[in-house]
Amino acid sequence: MTVSKAEIITKASPHTIKKFELITKYIEAWSQKLMLNDHCNGLIFIDCMCNSGIYEDQNGNLIEGTPIRVAKVLLDVARTYTNKMVNIYFNDLNEARVRELEKRLPKDERNFKIITSSEDAIDLLEHIGPQLSETSHYNYFLLYDPYDARIEWKVLLPFFRHWGEVMINHALRDPMRAITSAKSATVIEKYEHTYLADFEKLVPYGSDKNAYEKRIAKIIDYMKGNRRYYIASFPFYNSKNSLQYDLIHCTSNIEGYKLYKSCAWKVFGGQSSTKGASSTYIQTSLDFNSPEQVKMPVDNDCYTIHDIAEYLQNHFSGRQGVPLKEIWDLLVLHPIFPSDAFRRDIKTELCEYYGAIKSKKTDENTGQTQEVISFRDNK
Ligand SMILES: C[S@@+](CC[C@H](N)C(=O)[O-])C[C@H]1O[C@@H](n2cnc3c(N)ncnc32)[C@H](O)[C@@H]1O
Repeated sequence: MTVSKAEIITKASPHTIKKFELITKYIEAWSQKLMLNDHCNGLIFIDCMCNSGIYEDQNGNLIEGTPIRVAKVLLDVARTYTNKMVNIYFNDLNEARVRELEKRLPKDERNFKIITSSEDAIDLLEHIGPQLSETSHYNYFLLYDPYDARIEWKVLLPFFRHWGEVMINHALRDPMRAITSAKSATVIEKYEHTYLADFEKLVPYGSDKNAYEKRIAKIIDYMKGNRRYYIASFPFYNSKNSLQYDLIHCTSNIEGYKLYKSCAWKVFGGQSSTKGASSTYIQTSLDFNSPEQVKMPVDNDCYTIHDIAEYLQNHFSGRQGVPLKEIWDLLVLHPIFPSDAFRRDIKTELCEYYGAIKSKKTDENTGQTQEVISFRDNK
């Protein structure tokens, strides 16, 4: 059977390219961190729905997708850390896409191996899942990136219960648009399968994104069992500011959680999603002599540096000489705000908008000097 070029090289819109960038940036940082850990013998990266690795952007230029980008990054890592292994699995149900991908992948090396396959992701994960073991000291990363809302939780379970990370593309756009008009048994079954609930219970969700997000959060909470898990989710909007999907990162490693939040804010250029800048957001310095305080609008789908500053201002209101470490530590467990990116911009916003004052404080016992911030009182 001949397969058309359009089926192999699909279109990638700007938000999809951002997804490639985010996953690659994260894998680059994640792999470097892990390879420096003496207890890690190597990495396993799995993209179980990898596509052909090559796309066409809006201008007709060829663009590399996640598998090629990640393979290049991990080859560099393998060449740097020659005593550690890098194993990669790329799989797609569409065989022609896998054949196309193979043409562009780097060759295997002694400690760098790529295994390609074209089977149902369920079969691949059913095969790999039981092989996972804590004792091998391999860290894995599973990318589950379907086109539609279908998520096969059963095969994901072992990945949640072992040392490693899972990234899921939750294709919210699918149910938000189609659930109320769904008629066919296959489509109904898809939603029931993904949200593990009867269709009648799901229909009222309609186009309420929060309802689907809450349901997925509840399922992940069950999947992780007793493990301490950190979950960060970032929404992707198309150029018309319509929500397409959430890219959810699940890890039991706090460093991975911090890293993912930082990577996302960097890839989105200092905000928490690909949503176009809100026209109502205008950077203004606050005049504290003026009786009227200009209130910035908050977009809960796309936070900015200003929102981080506001959160900190509300938390530390009126406190004097707060060490920077205490400020960044507060952000570590925040579900969206990064704790180690855009620090200079956050400080600038605190000082210029909220009138906070930076100064230096010397510890009487150690003699060490550190930067501290004094916050205005909100009252
Ligand atoms: C969104 S694309 C993946 C993009 C890719 N992860 C990347 O970032 O470049 C979804 C892919 O999933 C594949 N696919 C759909 N259902 C599948 C299944 N059950 N098993 C394996 N692949 C599947 C499709 O053929 C398609 O290429």
